[in-house]
Amino acid sequence: MSHIIPQDRPTFRVAHWYRCQGLVGRENFLAFQKRFEEVVTTIANTKDEEKFWKFVRSLFDFDDYADCVPINAANLSILFDPVLRLMNALAFDWNRDISIQKRIQPFVRTIQVARELIAAQLNVEPELVAFQRNGSDPNAVINNGLTFNHGDQVVVWNENHPTQGEVAWRIRKDRFPNINIVVLDLQGEQDPVKIMKKFLDAVNGHTRLVAFSEVSHLSGTRLPAKALCSAIHQKNPRVHVHVDGAQSWGAFKHDLKDMGCDSYSGGSHKWFLGPKETGILYMRKECIPNFAPKDIGYNGEMQPPPTLPDDPLPWDASRFEMVGQRNDTNLIGLLYTADLMGLIGYDKIGTRMKKLTDHLRGNLERLRRELKRQHGEEIFEIETPKADDLHHAILVIKFKDQAQPGSRQQKKRRKTKKSEAASATPLSEQVYNLLYENHKIGVSTKKGNRMRFSPHIYNTFEHMDRVTAAMLVEINNILDS
Ligand SMILES: Cc1ncc(COP(=O)(O)O)c(C=O)c1O
Repeated sequence: MSHIIPQDRPTFRVAHWYRCQGLVGRENFLAFQKRFEEVVTTIANTKDEEKFWKFVRSLFDFDDYADCVPINAANLSILFDPVLRLMNALAFDWNRDISIQKRIQPFVRTIQVARELIAAQLNVEPELVAFQRNGSDPNAVINNGLTFNHGDQVVVWNENHPTQGEVAWRIRKDRFPNINIVVLDLQGEQDPVKIMKKFLDAVNGHTRLVAFSEVSHLSGTRLPAKALCSAIHQKNPRVHVHVDGAQSWGAFKHDLKDMGCDSYSGGSHKWFLGPKETGILYMRKECIPNFAPKDIGYNGEMQPPPTLPDDPLPWDASRFEMVGQRNDTNLIGLLYTADLMGLIGYDKIGTRMKKLTDHLRGNLERLRRELKRQHGEEIFEIETPKADDLHHAILVIKFKDQAQPGSRQQKKRRKTKKSEAASATPLSEQVYNLLYENHKIGVSTKKGNRMRFSPHIYNTFEHMDRVTAAMLVEINNILDS
């Protein structure tokens, strides 16, 4: 038996305190307690791997054959059912009394406890973590906060999300016309040494900031974040290295001190499985004074903004935290999720996801060969690098542009109006829509005739089989239409 005691967990302590303060009704608290004890003890004591994952899966309340099967964590994930139930119960309880007395204390306490837990999971000090609204919000802190000198250089990867990529920085350039923006294109490079070299070649004595996604939302490429941080700092110690973790926070174990980044960010509704409208920004203490806050608002202590100059801006990450009015239940939802994720274990989560992704890759490879055999030409290719350390749980395929409806018979018969209209829609979008309409499977499309798959721990190996079986049917139907 494990020594993990549910009543000692941070979520229980906060919920129990709510109960003692009359912030949660008796029935709601007892329902939470019963489920929480069962969940914690089962996670802690289930050693058999398949039983373990079956139980974890049962924590997500969706019906495999009636509800949509999500293979789309890179966009949005499902919440743990017990977390959502507690949040909903509290929403009712807290709506009955909106007095300030009832709001500030639970708010501040929950933020503190959640911050401590999440910071410990990332191996950083709690005061260096600011809660944010999503993954875009902290990116805006980074690209709004610096003041530049003439000739300063910013390096961004061309696979960064628009909120930290070329778009965001071109907008900044309107305010700082004398900065140089270098948009780095790795041109499909899959050798980690050459990837490092391309980044280092872009860094020089004028570089102030390098920002890259740890895992690309576009190709699924995982960059060697630790090696990059260290090499960039070695070349120019003045460079602030920002790692966008929107596609990695929660997906595997992180030790940000070990990674050596200057800042790291992420929204919790993707791989962390947390509630919408929550996210984080971590920043190294020495770097904080370099960034002006982008928002002026009440912080996580529910304190008003400081009045300069007597009352200076905080030295810690609370400088970037703008709490204001928000959906209060999200915060206990964030804490509860962090507690469950920590109990399941980030190493285990990372390994499980990787297994699901590799299984899916095998299926996609077989599907690619089968389609080629049937149609006599390549229909798609897998773009995400295969090397173990260059991908995690995102897989992207790109359809060949010549593969279109009727390609098998188009020489033999005239196209109908319908197939002409269909052929104007990229194959990626057609397949994506048919997977949803006919098979209740949710994936996503990307520009350039691409489809993206991103499985999470709520998925099963059977889902990975189901999606490729469905693709075979739908792609053949489209190509034969
Ligand atoms: C790498 C990356 N950064 C930032 C974001 C923005 O995150 P959010 O949607 O949470 O604002 C995304 C969203 O897809 C992303 O993929």
